[in-house]
Order: sequence, then C-alpha cells, then structure tokens
Amino acid sequence: MPNKVCVLGAGSTKYGKLNEGIIEIALKASIDAIDSAGITPKDIQAGYISNVFGVTDRQVHMAPVIMSNLGVPEVPGLTIESACGSGSIMFREAYANVAAGFYDCILGLGVEKITHTGTIQSTTLFSYCSDFFYEGGNGASFPGLFASIARSYMAKYKASEEDLARVAVKNHENGILNPKAHVRKKITIDDVLKSPVVASPLKLYDCCPFSDGASAIILCSEDFAKKSGRPFIEVIGSGRGASPAAVQGRDDITTIPSTVAAANQAYKMAGITAKDIDFAEVHDCFTIAELIDIEDLGFFKKGAGANAVREGATSRDGEIPINPSGGLKSKGHPIGATGIGQVVEVFEQLTGKAEQRTVRDAEVALTHNFGATGASAAVHIFKRVQ
Ligand SMILES: CC(C)(COP(=O)(O)OP(=O)(O)OC[C@H]1O[C@@H](n2cnc3c(N)ncnc32)[C@H](O)[C@@H]1OP(=O)(O)O)[C@@H](O)C(=O)NCCC(=O)NCCS
Repeated sequence: MPNKVCVLGAGSTKYGKLNEGIIEIALKASIDAIDSAGITPKDIQAGYISNVFGVTDRQVHMAPVIMSNLGVPEVPGLTIESACGSGSIMFREAYANVAAGFYDCILGLGVEKITHTGTIQSTTLFSYCSDFFYEGGNGASFPGLFASIARSYMAKYKASEEDLARVAVKNHENGILNPKAHVRKKITIDDVLKSPVVASPLKLYDCCPFSDGASAIILCSEDFAKKSGRPFIEVIGSGRGASPAAVQGRDDITTIPSTVAAANQAYKMAGITAKDIDFAEVHDCFTIAELIDIEDLGFFKKGAGANAVREGATSRDGEIPINPSGGLKSKGHPIGATGIGQVVEVFEQLTGKAEQRTVRDAEVALTHNFGATGASAAVHIFKRVQ
C-alpha cells in the first residue's frame, strides 16, 4: 500500500493577462503555498513544475531557476509537460514520489505565461499539443476540434446550443465570487448565444480564455502534515488514463476514454463511487467538455449531463456542484497551472478558506484535468482531515 499523502499548503496568483514575467509569477505562487503550509524553502526536498510554453517567455529548464530563486539551489527539480493536463500529471508524479517514501515534502508548481503572444500565435502554439500531423497541421485548432465533438454530442443526445450555454452561465456565476478568476462577468444564456461564433456551434462564451497564471501546492507525508499542526487534506485516490491522441482514432467522440480510465482507478483506490463526491473541479476548456466530463466521471448517465445542468444539479448549491472556482471557462486556463489550480481550490474549500464560494458541508472532492482533447488525463480525490 502507498504511504498516505497530504496537501498542507496552497497558493495562487490571479489568472488573466499578467504583466510580470514567468519566473516572477511562479515565485509568487510558490511563496504563497510555502507560507500557507507554515514551512520554509529549506523543508522542501524536491520541486515539481508543470509548464508548456515557457520558451515563449525565454525560460525553459525552469525547476533549477525556481529552486535557486527560493534560496535552495541544491534541491532537485523536474519540469513536466502534458499539454493542458500538465498540472494534474505533474501532481500525480509528485504524489507517487511521496507515496513511495522518496520525499516527505514537495513543492508542486504549475505556471504558464501565454497572453503576450496574442490570440493568433497562441492558437498556433496550442495546436502543437494536438496530434499535429492529423489535426493542428491540417488547420484543426482546439476550438475546431471541440466544435466537432459538440456537433457529435448534440446529434447523439439531442442537446442544444442553450444546453452548452447554461454551463458557461453557471461557471461565470461561480467565477464572479472568485477574486483570482480571469473573466469575472455575469452572463445570460442570450449573451452566450449572441456572442461571436468561434467554431460553430461554439461561441466566445463557450470557450475558455487564454490566461497567464501560477498555482502551487505543498505535498507531504502524513507525519509531516500532522507535525505542522496546520489544517491539511488527504489524497485518497489517484488515477491516470490515455486516449488515442487524435480524435479520429476514437470510436465515439462523445466520451473521453482517458477520463473514464483515470476516474475508475481513482474511485477504486479511494474505495468510493461518484455518489460519494461532494463537489468536483473538472476540465471545462469548452462548455461541451464539461457536459462530457460529468458523464464520464460517473456523476450522470451518458447523455443526461445537459438535463442535469438545466435542473441546477451542478450549481453551487446543487446535488453535485461542478467548478465552484469558475472552472477553466471563468477562472481561466493558464495551461501549465490549471491542474494545480484545481487542487488549490479543493484545498481552500476543504480547509474553510473559500469564502463566498464555499460548497456547504463538503468532505470529499475530485479534480479532473486533461491534455489536448483528452489524449492524457488524471483524476484525484481528496478528503477533509479535520
Ligand atoms: C475565444 C477566443 C478565440 C477569444 O479570443 P479573442 O477574440 O482574441 O479575445 P481577446 O483576447 O481579444 O479579448 C476580447 C475580449 O473578450 C474577452 N474574452 C476573451 N476570451 C474570452 C472567453 N473565452 N470568454 C469570455 N471572455 C473572453 C476578453 O477578456 C476581452 O474583453 P475586454 O475587451 O472586456 O477586455 C480565445 O480566447 C480562444 O481561442 N480560447 C480558447 C483557448 C484554447 O483553445 N485553450 C485550449 C483548450 S483545449
């Protein structure tokens, strides 16, 4: 059995268009997480960093730079890239190292800086995360690929553009309450439907924005967490999955096999089912993705997601609140940071720091984050300890 692993601290910059450089925002989030855990950089035994496009801000090989700036150049670091799922895949690797007993205390830092490249260049760069030979190289951007997925889902399950819009309206309502969110704006279904078409049927408000941002967590052994005397949460389930890289390689594009596999592993390890989850942070890069996620994660039957959203089941006070942070749609999607940002939200929720966006009586929460159209994915389950 793996050793118990806990999250003892968490910190994040605001997400959005940020003026500071990549190292500055990375250090800000790291120092926030270190302070939140009540430790010093000297307590950190390894640094795990998730990032995709550091090269555009003239910094790759980021781990040694971060550890040196934190005053602990002797601490080994590692940078992990897995497209939009980089944060959760990095979390899984950091988790495994603590669970195996290699380290007692790890800094997990996700960071991205992309808005300085502009929408056209960002879209091109992001397309390098697809299976470029079949997809990006033939002009299929991520909005285009998810538009195909949306068309297929709408045809199979008789869902409408309003059903997609409702996901955006709900996530914007949550994001307004999150001071760190990128797009804090109340919108209506009509606003979504009348917003400019990006890739039909997806419109501006069906898409996540391009965001900069950094999020960090302190991951440690149970002994280390208990000795701190601080509030912490425990990781009770961890799973990873994979799907054919290009959507054309999948039999059915209304489900993401990597999500299903990662969720099954995480539920099995935690010894629980989807019914035991009190809220979830899921990968809503586009509104259609959230509908597919909540079905693949087992919260609703296939095809029942749109109706669940319509009935308010996924709202903050619903049966299974989804994305109380605002999700990628409103909180933002700095791709290397997103998966860690989800853990930051869970930490804040389960340790009583989520203020106005608190999900009442939550004890067990799930994070779900994938790369590209779901070629890679990871799911984690957390439990409140005190
Ligand atoms: C939707 C998209 C095309 C909009 O790009 P754009 O038209 O160049 O937008 P801009 O950056 O010029 O912003 C224009 C305005 O819309 C807002 N905005 C931009 N994207 C937004 C979004 N996704 N949702 C809501 N508002 C958004 C901006 O804040 C800005 O508002 P302001 O004028 O009040 O400041 C772009 O955000 C996009 O491609 N998103 C998807 C990113 C992606 O593929 N991620 C990977 C997922 S797998």
